[in-house]
Parts: sequence; structure tokens; C-alpha cells
Amino acid sequence: MRILSGIQPSGALHLGNYFGMMKPAIELQEKGHAFYFIANYHSMTTLVDPVERRKNTLDVALDFLACGLDPKKTVFFRQSDVPEVTELTWMLSTVTPMGLLERCTSYKDKVAKGISPNHGLFAYPVLMAADILIYDSNIVPVGQDQKQHVEVTRDIAVKFNEQYGETFVIPEPQIRADVAKVPGLDGEKMSKSYGNTIEIFGDEKALRKKAMGIKMDSRTPQEPKPDADQNIAIQILKLVAPPETAKDYEDRLRAGGLGYGDLKKALFEHYWNHFAAARAKRAELAANLDYVNKVLADGATQARSVAQKVLQRAKVASGLE
Ligand code: ADP
Ligand code: TRP
Repeated sequence: MRILSGIQPSGALHLGNYFGMMKPAIELQEKGHAFYFIANYHSMTTLVDPVERRKNTLDVALDFLACGLDPKKTVFFRQSDVPEVTELTWMLSTVTPMGLLERCTSYKDKVAKGISPNHGLFAYPVLMAADILIYDSNIVPVGQDQKQHVEVTRDIAVKFNEQYGETFVIPEPQIRADVAKVPGLDGEKMSKSYGNTIEIFGDEKALRKKAMGIKMDSRTPQEPKPDADQNIAIQILKLVAPPETAKDYEDRLRAGGLGYGDLKKALFEHYWNHFAAARAKRAELAANLDYVNKVLADGATQARSVAQKVLQRAKVASGLE
């Protein structure tokens, strides 16, 4: 069974990325042959600075390896090291109805937020379909916001298969319901583009300041809070602390008597401890970049050999060869 997922190098990775995508993806590497890649072509739709792209790409590699991606079990590579994927993108784009892309909410959201759209941003789901189909992927673990893109991929694969005969495996998205949407500092979905993130790794002082800045209401500490389960800090605490601890804080908040400042302090300590081992591993990796680059180069070689076979199949089916 082939498991595949990608992540854009568009900024430092945060708790939403970790619990929504990285952790489930890392756990899945025990269940099948996983392929994970850094979607640097996709990042070109919104990020224009080459220095930043290069830095972010390395950071994503370090973050993933530090969090437990095991290159002995998993093929880990940079998207652009398999250029075949862009060739397949063109082929898929010719069976993709315009309406399918026009309905994509992620595109509409980005435009609504003021990003001036280029063709790449509009065609983004077709490149994503190529990413998925070129490795005969069965399972695609992603956060809720990417589900529609995997559905678009399925539609494109079905269309191509109808037009040219059975060529592609039809993939399934895999969304973990319990962490489908990690809230950010302001209660909206945590996202690099909303500036409301808590990063997985970074400077302790700056991150503590961020955690202490989580938005709360103006109720007094003594007031009972029947909606304690909706509290942003409680929701994040449930991800980083043992379940009994998180429940204890939730109960105390509900009953009244627990101040928001104390809650946020506790949240920070649990979050910081949760990633302590990964932080040490990341420092080790950062001092051994030759190893990291070798992992990515080996991953690219393996990914490319699969991609070339599937692309060839599509070329024969469509009469290009
Ligand atoms: P961002 O919104 O920060 O730009 P991406 O769109 O690059 O994040 O998402 C990378 C992966 O992380 C995707 O699989 C996405 O679904 C997941 N993800 C991002 N933010 C969250 C979140 N707040 N909760 C759960 N999953 C998330
Ligand atoms: N679009 C995804 C995101 O922003 C990243 C991505 C690119 C991806 N290609 C993929 C995810 C293929 C899963 C499969 O999160």
C-alpha cells in the first residue's frame, strides 16, 4: 500500500501542521510504503523569495526528520527533484474541467484574502493530482482543508481513466477526525497565512510570549466557564499534555477559579516538554547537513524511478508514445 503526502515549504511548521499532518503521516510509515515530499513547486504560487524557499525547504526537512520520519522506512524527497511530475501535470490539465478548479475553496479563500492569483495558484490542484497519481498512491493523509484537493485528484484520475483506459490508481484521503483543525492564537484555524501560529521549534522566549498571547475573553478567574471545552488553550493542551492533565485543567476552568494566565503558563510548559526530544534531535541534524542532503538525494532517486514508470504508462495510454 502506497501512502503519500506533501507539505509546502512556505514558512516555519506549526502545531497545526504537526498534529494535522506530520504526526499522522509519521505514524503511517509503519503501515505501508510511505512517500513524503517537500512541495517546493507548490510554494512558488505564493512565495517568491528564493532565499526563503531554500531555507524553508531545509527547515521542513529538519523538522520532519526530528519529529520521527525514518528515512529507512520512508521515501523523503523534494518535489522538484522529480521533474516528471510537471510533465504529468500538463497531461492531467487537459482532462480537468475548468469548473472543477473554479469550485476549489482553497483558491477562492486565497483570492479573498487578497493574494493576486497567478495561473499556478489556480492550477495548483492539478499539480497536486500529479503528485498523488504519479506514485500510484492509495492513501493521502492530510488535514481537513486539503480534502477537497484529494477529491479533485480522484475526479481527474477517473476522467483520465475513462478517456484513455485504466491508468491511475484512485486515491483515498485520510483525515484524522480528532485533530482535523488545530486552532491558532486567535481561535481561527492555525495557519502560516493567518499569522496565528505556534511553531513546533524555535526560540523559547518568543514562543512563550506567543503562548501567553492566546486570545481569551474578559471573564474573571472565579467565574465558572461552562464552555471550557471551547477554550483555545484547552484545545491545544489536549494535544500536548497527557489526557488526565488536560481534563483536570478543563474541569478547573469549567468550575471557576483557574485564571487564564495560569492556564496559558501550563500550556506552554506541556508544549515545550512535548517536543523536548525532537528539539534535541533537530539540533543534532542541523549540525550534520550532509546527512540530511543525502537522505533527500536518496529519496529523490527512489521516487523518480516509480514516477518514471507511471508517467510512461500514462504516455502510452494517451498516445504520446
Ligand atoms: P498553512 O495553513 O499553515 O499554510 P499548509 O496549508 O501548508 O499550512 O498545510 C500543511 C498541512 O498541514 C496540510 O495537510 C494541512 O491540512 C495541515 N494543517 C495546516 N494547518 C492545520 C491546522 N490548523 N489544523 C490541522 N491541520 C492543519
Ligand atoms: N497542498 C498541500 C498543502 O498545502 C501540499 C501538497 C502538495 C500535497 N502536493 C500534495 C499534500 C500531494 C498531499 C498530497 O498542504
